[in-house]
Amino acid sequence: MLDLIELAGLTSKKAKEELSLLNDQTGLDAFYAKYLSKKGEIRMLLSHMKEVVAEKKKEAGEAVNKAMGEVSAAYEQKRAKLETEKLAKRLEEEKIDITLPGRKLTTGRINPYYQIIDEVTDIFLEMGYEVVEGRDVETDHFNFELLNVPKDHPSRDMQDTFYISDELLLRTQTSAAQAHTMCERSANPRPIRMICPGKAYRRDDDDMTHSHQFAQIEGLVVDKNISIANLKATLELFVKKMFGEKREIRLRSSYFPFTEPSVEVDVSCFKCGGKGCATCKDTGWIEILGAGMVNPKVLQSCGYDPKQWSGFAFGVGVERVAMLRYGVDDIRRFYTNDTRFLKDYSGK
Ligand code: DAH
Repeated sequence: MLDLIELAGLTSKKAKEELSLLNDQTGLDAFYAKYLSKKGEIRMLLSHMKEVVAEKKKEAGEAVNKAMGEVSAAYEQKRAKLETEKLAKRLEEEKIDITLPGRKLTTGRINPYYQIIDEVTDIFLEMGYEVVEGRDVETDHFNFELLNVPKDHPSRDMQDTFYISDELLLRTQTSAAQAHTMCERSANPRPIRMICPGKAYRRDDDDMTHSHQFAQIEGLVVDKNISIANLKATLELFVKKMFGEKREIRLRSSYFPFTEPSVEVDVSCFKCGGKGCATCKDTGWIEILGAGMVNPKVLQSCGYDPKQWSGFAFGVGVERVAMLRYGVDDIRRFYTNDTRFLKDYSGK
């Protein structure tokens, strides 16, 4: 007759031996199915109970329970051990070496040329100017004709132009914004004090001091009884705020079709104070903008009666100011996005 007590002992022993050889989860799962599940060998021992003689039933029951307890405990122990080993292995693999230097987060900066635009804008806002927005694609009419540059006029040669069609072009100067501002208000002419920062484009060959795209800040004042004294005072104030209290300005006569008289404005060299150095090419002065009294023909074309109204205008070359301010030798640096450059010249 089957000795269930002995069988229970043997099954328990065999199971524990098998368990001791296991070392992964798959093996462990198979072990559970084989011994401890409902149809497993240990539970199946109970199905033999009915064959056990009455006086041995108690002992046999206890033997089966003992086997069940032992194998379950051994299984639990093994499961916990494998779990711990797995965790230890993962920790080892995913170890972070905190002795390595971290990666620095880099922060963006404002391009020095936008800083100049912001500074100039702030100065004119303080003086009560409004900022108007121009457009990069212009008509020949606004970019040239309303500004007293008729077709075939030789002064067009100074501004070699990207034409999109005969009438459309990339604006060569922010001065086009003067014409727009006056025309928009001509139905009800009223005083104007505006600046217009923006890009301009010319078919220049790019070199250290020229770029096919550059920025200008246009200024326009139209009112009653505006004289060149107002222009000079305004630009003097601007230059002192921008480059320092000690700076002087000098007006040199020049020619622009849209102003009469026209001037180039120099500022006393902010490097050497006027003594002469490499920055000012030993002259003591640096040219920073063009300006003049708005040509009566322009006022007329844009709907402001020159008998009643007069005004002045100016155009600042942004890169030129930025190059002088920061001692940058090559205009192309502003556009090539070399972060070392941006880092060196931002926020100064
Ligand atoms: N538009 C001129 C240029 O691009 C600069 C300029 C000169 C603007 C005199 C003006 C001005 O408004 O009055 O060269």
